[in-house]
Amino acid sequence: MDITGRLNILGIESSCDETSVAILTNEEVKANLISSQHFHKAFGGVVPELSSRAHLQIVKPLIDSALTMTNLKLKDIDLITATAGPGLIGALLVGLTFAKGLSFSLKKPFIPVNHIEGHIFSGFLMKQKPEFPALVLVVSGGHTLLLYVESYSKVYKLGTTVDDAAGEAFDKVSKMLGYGYPGGPQIEASASKGDESSIKFPVAELKDQYNFSFSGLKTAVLRYIQNNHPNGKIAESDLSNISASFQKALVGALMKNVTLALNNYKVKSLSLVGGVAANKKLRIEFKNVAEKFNIPSIIPSTEYCSDNAAMIALRGYQLYQTGFKSDLNAKPYPSIPENHFLKLN
Ligand code: KG4
Ligand code: ZN
Repeated sequence: MDITGRLNILGIESSCDETSVAILTNEEVKANLISSQHFHKAFGGVVPELSSRAHLQIVKPLIDSALTMTNLKLKDIDLITATAGPGLIGALLVGLTFAKGLSFSLKKPFIPVNHIEGHIFSGFLMKQKPEFPALVLVVSGGHTLLLYVESYSKVYKLGTTVDDAAGEAFDKVSKMLGYGYPGGPQIEASASKGDESSIKFPVAELKDQYNFSFSGLKTAVLRYIQNNHPNGKIAESDLSNISASFQKALVGALMKNVTLALNNYKVKSLSLVGGVAANKKLRIEFKNVAEKFNIPSIIPSTEYCSDNAAMIALRGYQLYQTGFKSDLNAKPYPSIPENHFLKLN
């Protein structure tokens, strides 16, 4: 605790291939260290066992660095938070167990955090905070969710993906084009050199209007490659045109549902979060739609879009303020618990 009574919160994130440690003083980020496991690239995707081992090696040095950076000692930490799920069980276990151990030895409260809730409320890490009710689009490697967020504890699900997540679609198309993992940043770089109107990729029309589907788009890209480049050799300019046209179709599908929701629900802010929110085209289109509806849009800076512990510490702090308490029995979980979000209709 500092002299004004503000709490020092430690956050640990280890759900996938980023180990991250953050220290917040109340809502203010004092340190947010992220160590990315780049070695997975060689395998074309995240190898769970290797991920767990890498988290184990780096989590303690990261905590030491965060304490040094903030001039704090472990005894100055008032609240310990860690991601409990969804994510890779072995990877989650590392951060969660470390946090529980610290909580036990320091006799400080521990709060397990849902990773997706961390993303949902990551807009609150920014200077301009979202206002409730907010429309939040979560786009990550594992999730695509359109949410009506009424308060810190009332989150209604409007739509989700019926197949691939937005980030997953970027990663799969990237693999098809020979760019590898993670696909988003590479497709984005390739797209910047291409013509987004060169190929018309179809986007699924779903009966459940707020849901998303990206597997048809992914298959359309595959068919296009098979039909136009049967020998598998694709010239650089064609690769860029495919990337740009794919990116346009995917961003268009996301924005279509956001626009529909804005037409049907009165909200005071719009927030775009998750790893795919780093995408520049998506950020621009999102801001344009918000402007059209005259609503403030809050998109976290890129360090808070991809997996980070600052959003975990912040969410833990929000829960702590609502009086939420946890013992040390919290278990890691691989997916979002069923009925985790409320139903609006
Ligand atoms: O939120 P995140 O870091 O991890 C999960 O919780 O899944 O999201 C990772 C996803 C990956 O699929 C990656 O390809 C995608 O975010 N991504 C992007 C960009 N940067 C990362 N997708 C599109 N454009 C980007 N610039
Ligand atoms: Zn994430």
